[in-house]
Amino acid sequence: MIIKPEEVSAKDLYKLMIGTVVPRPIAWVSTVSEDGTNNLAPYSFFNAVSADPPVVCFSPSRKPGGDNRKDTLRNIETTGVFVVNMVSEHLAAAMNQSAADVPPEVDEFVLAGVTPEPATRIAAPMVKEALAKMECRLRQVIPLGDQPSSGMLVLGDVVCLHFAEGLIDNYKVDPDLLNAVGRMGGTSYCGTRQRFDLERPTTNTKL
Ligand SMILES: Cc1cc2nc3c(=O)[nH]c(=O)nc-3n(C[C@H](O)[C@H](O)[C@H](O)COP(=O)(O)O)c2cc1C
Repeated sequence: MIIKPEEVSAKDLYKLMIGTVVPRPIAWVSTVSEDGTNNLAPYSFFNAVSADPPVVCFSPSRKPGGDNRKDTLRNIETTGVFVVNMVSEHLAAAMNQSAADVPPEVDEFVLAGVTPEPATRIAAPMVKEALAKMECRLRQVIPLGDQPSSGMLVLGDVVCLHFAEGLIDNYKVDPDLLNAVGRMGGTSYCGTRQRFDLERPTTNTKL
């Protein structure tokens, strides 16, 4: 079956995209509003896109209506900073709770039952319970369209990384301890415990 995007509804395109690009890592993004309300929400259109400089990106979609920015994006455009907290399995339910569509004045740390902790180099809260987190300064927002479900790609420079005690050894993150979860399509998630190794091929100079 061949599908041309222009022939499919936005809702079905969304289902196809999130069911095809799997598993997706989850950025649990914490920000603060202009009036000081903490905000927390998960974003699985997320990845690391550069190591030097260290840059991450994620993509909040537009909402229908006037100011169609999600609270996370509005806060980032106001303050210029955000934190990406990684979601370990024991935090999955709290992460899901923080995805509720609530008004900007609701503190989603309270909603999710997690503890805000000040970041080191930026004025944004971190999730204390998260085992790995990255403090980020906004580099660029790239609007990818003007429809209600169009993405607004946020690029952030990582200015500080935090790891729980024992999580890294010689800069290598222990994947079993991090025990991150990924998002599949719909309401499905996956773990990261079923792994396998592949040695990189060496260059065959005869070819
Ligand atoms: C696991 C997960 C991943 C999500 N990923 C995205 C995403 O990449 N982009 C997006 O716009 N919304 C995503 N959402 C929905 C947002 O989390 C939700 O709209 C949330 O209410 C936004 O909160 P905010 O307005 O405080 O930023 C996701 C939800 C879940 C549960």
